[in-house]
Amino acid sequence: MATAQDNYLKLLSHPVAQEVAGRFGLPRPAALRRYRPGEPLLPGPVLLLGTGTGADAVAGTLPGLGLQVRRQAASGERLGAIVAVLDEAAGPADLAGPALALGAALRDLAPGGRIVTISRPAGGALPPAAAAARQGVQGLLRSLARELRGGATGNGILLGEGVQAGAPAVLGVLRFLLSARSAYVDGQFLQVDGAGGSFEAAAERPLAGKAAVVTGAARGIGAAIAEVLRRDGADVVVVDVPAAGEQLAAVANRIGATALQLDITGPAAGARILERTAGRHGRLDIVVHNAGITRDKLLANMDADRWKAVLEVNLAAPLRLNEAFLASDLLGPAPRFVCLASTSGIAGNRGQTNYAASKAGIIGMVNASAPLLAARGGAINAVAPGFIETEMTARMPAATREVARRLLPSLQQGGLPQDVAEAVAFLASADAAGINGQTLRVCGQSLVGA
Ligand code: NAI
Repeated sequence: MATAQDNYLKLLSHPVAQEVAGRFGLPRPAALRRYRPGEPLLPGPVLLLGTGTGADAVAGTLPGLGLQVRRQAASGERLGAIVAVLDEAAGPADLAGPALALGAALRDLAPGGRIVTISRPAGGALPPAAAAARQGVQGLLRSLARELRGGATGNGILLGEGVQAGAPAVLGVLRFLLSARSAYVDGQFLQVDGAGGSFEAAAERPLAGKAAVVTGAARGIGAAIAEVLRRDGADVVVVDVPAAGEQLAAVANRIGATALQLDITGPAAGARILERTAGRHGRLDIVVHNAGITRDKLLANMDADRWKAVLEVNLAAPLRLNEAFLASDLLGPAPRFVCLASTSGIAGNRGQTNYAASKAGIIGMVNASAPLLAARGGAINAVAPGFIETEMTARMPAATREVARRLLPSLQQGGLPQDVAEAVAFLASADAAGINGQTLRVCGQSLVGA
């Protein structure tokens, strides 16, 4: 799992250090609420804001998650979350009431609490005032997320065409955003398309009976993904290059997975993965394209080897593997693919033209592949990590790394491999049944990262 340590965060667990940090105006990052099986979904009841039929429907579904619901703030009660249902916003004036009610309730939000908005996207043929109000929700939420402290986060759900706020597919996404699994997801929107999906109340082993492959799983984020998929009940095949064979075997032994030494750029890599996974587990249900490399250089100094190696491992290989998987009978029904993109592929990053091209390419691949997966009852999505503490980021120059950590808006710390792994496991599960072709940032609301 995580090898790099965030010493500053550790130091701040000491009261004297906290006081010194406070006196000198240094950031005081909170310990994030991270998922442990068996713990309650939230540290308190949910305040549900909104008065329409959508709000009533969500209020009706939340007890199914084992949550207590309040429709009015009761002074002094510690809230686990505030959910604002804004699906009927038709003009800018409709935002004032919910925005101010959210603001008034913030002081009651528990550390590690959650804000979730449920609204509609601004796309399609809409009256301009309605589109303005809908887009306005996104500005409101993203800014509010930057104002939260104590490890609290704010995220939003967008209801696609014909999807009602109380649909099972919405509840699955709400469960993820409320839970400690989304510790490092902040200021993000997920759109739910297709009202389908069935909601399973028991969430302890949501991937039981599924066969998964994770590439680049000998260390870092890939090892964490394999571990979380296994914890959630999946059978896992872990893949990495032969040079990392020993580390790969150690991961496989530790979590109870099957190791497959393989360079994903090699010939017949897809066939070998299918053969091993189906040989052990009958078929392949979940694919996680995690293997990735960096070869950073300013473009003026870039050589062909660096450019080609990064594009080959990070983009060309996943494209070829997907083709092989989609052409195979060994792919199970409702397959779910999750790809590792990067915030560099969204915002760009100096010195990373090759890497950012490959990661932006992943986002394009995911968009275009969504209908292919949907045709098989499945989905493909990407996770775009920001600054995550791994060997990849440990290689950044120390000053850049430290600035990157502290500039993270409200969480003020890098993420852990587990944070990315939880998002991947969610996208691989039935709770994400309504999500296809999307990229979820796991970045503590920053765009800095590898
Ligand atoms: P890492 O360098 O610690 O691990 C990557 C693994 O992929 C290594 O075990 C490596 O041996 C394996 N690999 C490389 N080429 C391979 C090939 N041809 N075939 C099979 N395996 C291969 O990297 P880390 O940090 O765990 O990153 C994992 C993924 O997350 C990568 O795709 C990376 O681009 C992405 N990412 C990481 C971020 C971070 O902050 N650490 C930020 C954004 C994205």
